Amino acid sequence: MVKKKKVKIIKKQFKSKENSSAEKVQKVLTYIPNFDKLIQGGFEKNSTNLVVGGAGSGKTIFAMQFVMGGIKKGEKCLYVTFEEKKDQFYKHMLQFGWNLEDYEKKGLFTFLEYAPLKVKTMLEEGGGSIENIILKNKISRVVIDSISSFALLFEKELEKKEAALALFNMINDWDCTSLLTLEEDVSSRDGLGSKSLEFEADSIVILYYAPDKKERHRYLEILKMRGTKHSTKMHKFDIAKTGVIVHGAR
Ligand SMILES: Nc1ncnc2c1ncn2[C@@H]1O[C@H](COP(=O)(O)OP(=O)(O)O)[C@@H](O)[C@H]1O
Ligand SMILES: [Mg+2]
Repeated sequence: MVKKKKVKIIKKQFKSKENSSAEKVQKVLTYIPNFDKLIQGGFEKNSTNLVVGGAGSGKTIFAMQFVMGGIKKGEKCLYVTFEEKKDQFYKHMLQFGWNLEDYEKKGLFTFLEYAPLKVKTMLEEGGGSIENIILKNKISRVVIDSISSFALLFEKELEKKEAALALFNMINDWDCTSLLTLEEDVSSRDGLGSKSLEFEADSIVILYYAPDKKERHRYLEILKMRGTKHSTKMHKFDIAKTGVIVHGAR
């Protein structure tokens, strides 16, 4: 009887020790069905996360699902785009049941169409309208979709590297968890090209839309996530009526 009690106490102490070390890293649930299980409960709070994939691989929908996860918990979210037009974008997102107009009215969602050139100026001058919106609206989740067109502004490799570093430094200073998308064709065999590696992100998630003989299949993998024991597998996912659903997560 006494022995049993001792074992219990030891176990309890061990558990609480485990918890306290886990507490040091604060996680932000993405709420993308089954994705959080692959990354020990979510993105690290205030981290900068890069989602890479070819055209049509699901980057925008993945990013918006991360935004919707926040909105549904009452978080204020900002979506910055260099490419999408607001009206069409809202119409497309409504297909997943995401009424962005409604969330905009409630002050939970901000859509910002931004010219890449403006970001360049912002980096040179510091601050700018994105930063103002983040501070004023107390934004906690930011998506920048995509940074590819921004990268195109710079011709010389060194210039591009410096700008990428400046952009990431700026984002790191914001009190937000951010998700940036980058368009890059990735084949599952060769992995990432040099484009993505210029960006010093805390995590890199790759979306594949891989063909077999008859059809294409969607997969995702976590290439890197700082401080996280993440899944090393390729996970099949679908774009369903409710958005992205990841399969094969335990
Ligand atoms: N309502 C929908 N239901 C199912 N699949 C969709 C729907 N809308 C778009 N898709 C799929 O998602 C793809 C576009 O995803 P998107 O996130 O915009 O890709 P990316 O941003 O990587 O270019 C489309 O080409 C289509 O295959
Ligand atoms: Mg897109």
